[in-house]
Amino acid sequence: MSDAQQLKTLSWVAIAAGAGYVIGKKMASAGGSCETKTRGELIDGKAIAAKVKEDVKAATQELVALHGVKPGLAVILVGERKDSQSYVKNKKKMAAEVDFHTVDVDLPDTVSQADLLKEVEKLNNDPKVHAILVQLPLPKHIDEPTILKAIKVEKDADGFSAANIGNLCLKGGDPPLAIPCTPAGCIELLQRSDVEMSGKNAVVIGRSNIVGMPVANMLQSCDCTVTVCHSRTKNMEEIIRKADIVVAAIGKAFFVKGDWLKPGCVVIDVGINSVDDATKKAGYRLVGDVDFESAKHVASKITPVPGGVGPMTISMLMKNTLNLARHSIGLERIPLRRQQSK
Ligand code: GUN
Repeated sequence: MSDAQQLKTLSWVAIAAGAGYVIGKKMASAGGSCETKTRGELIDGKAIAAKVKEDVKAATQELVALHGVKPGLAVILVGERKDSQSYVKNKKKMAAEVDFHTVDVDLPDTVSQADLLKEVEKLNNDPKVHAILVQLPLPKHIDEPTILKAIKVEKDADGFSAANIGNLCLKGGDPPLAIPCTPAGCIELLQRSDVEMSGKNAVVIGRSNIVGMPVANMLQSCDCTVTVCHSRTKNMEEIIRKADIVVAAIGKAFFVKGDWLKPGCVVIDVGINSVDDATKKAGYRLVGDVDFESAKHVASKITPVPGGVGPMTISMLMKNTLNLARHSIGLERIPLRRQQSK
C-alpha cells in the first residue's frame, strides 16, 4: 500500500490500544496514605529509530543483492554552524551504518549562490546519488527557496519540494516521493506508540515549512482535528489545554508548561534548544520546547529531549533515501508508516 493510501485508510482502521491512557496511578506513600499522581510514559525515540534503521538496512541489502542499486545520499553543508555540523555528522554516520553510498559537499559560508547551484546541478546529474539534502539554514546571502527548487524532485531527500508537499496535502494526490523527515518521525512515534489519532484534538505549536506545516497536514490525514498555534496566536494556553496530542515545534526552551496540558495528553517535543548548564562539561545541555519536568506528570506519553524526535528525523531521512533509490528503478516505495493490522 502506498503512503498516501495508508494515510487515507488510517481513518478506517483502529489504532491498537490507543484509547487507554495510563493516568492517575495510585501510589502508596511512606505514611500509608495514597496520593494520585500522573506518570508520563517515555516514548523512546532512540529505540524506535533503531528499529526503522534496521529495516532500512535490511531493505538496502536486498536492493543491492537483487537489483545492484546502492542508495546514494549527498549532503551539502554550507558554513560552520555548530548545530548544523552536528546534525550533518549524525546523518552521514547513519548513512554509512546502513551501507549507503554517500557524497559530502562542505562549502564555506562565503560560497556564492551561483556556485552552490552548480554543486546541486552536479549532484542532480550524478547517477549514483538518489537523494540530495542541503542542510538548512543557509547563510543570509543565499535564497533558500531558490536552492531547494534546484534539487530534482526525484532526488528531494527532505520532501520539501512544492510537488512533494502538494501531494502530501492533497486529498487524492499522487503519493509524495519523500516526506519531510521530522514530521514523518513524529507520526511514526505516535503510531509505534499505539496512540490513537482518529478524532483526537491535535495542537501543533509552530508553522515552519520543515516541521509545523507538514506535521499539521499529516495529523489531519490521520483524522485528527488540528489547530496550528504560532507567534501571533491568542489564548495559546487555552487552546493547548484542549489538545489530546501536542506537537511542540516553536524553538523556545521550556515554552510549554505542565499546567497548560490536558491530563493524559500525548506530547511530542520537536524542540532542540541549548541552555547554559554549569554542571555539564560542555557548559550547556539540550532541552525541548516543553518543560519536561512539569509535563511528565500530566502527559500520558511524552518524548524526551534528547532521545525523542531527534533520532527519528535521521532514520526517516534514511527511509526517504532508500525509497528514492527504489523509485529510480521503478520499484514501489516502502511505506513510511507502519501498516495498521486492524
Ligand atoms: N535543518 C533543520 N532540520 C532540517 C531538515 O530536516 N532538513 C534540512 N535539510 N535542514 C534542516
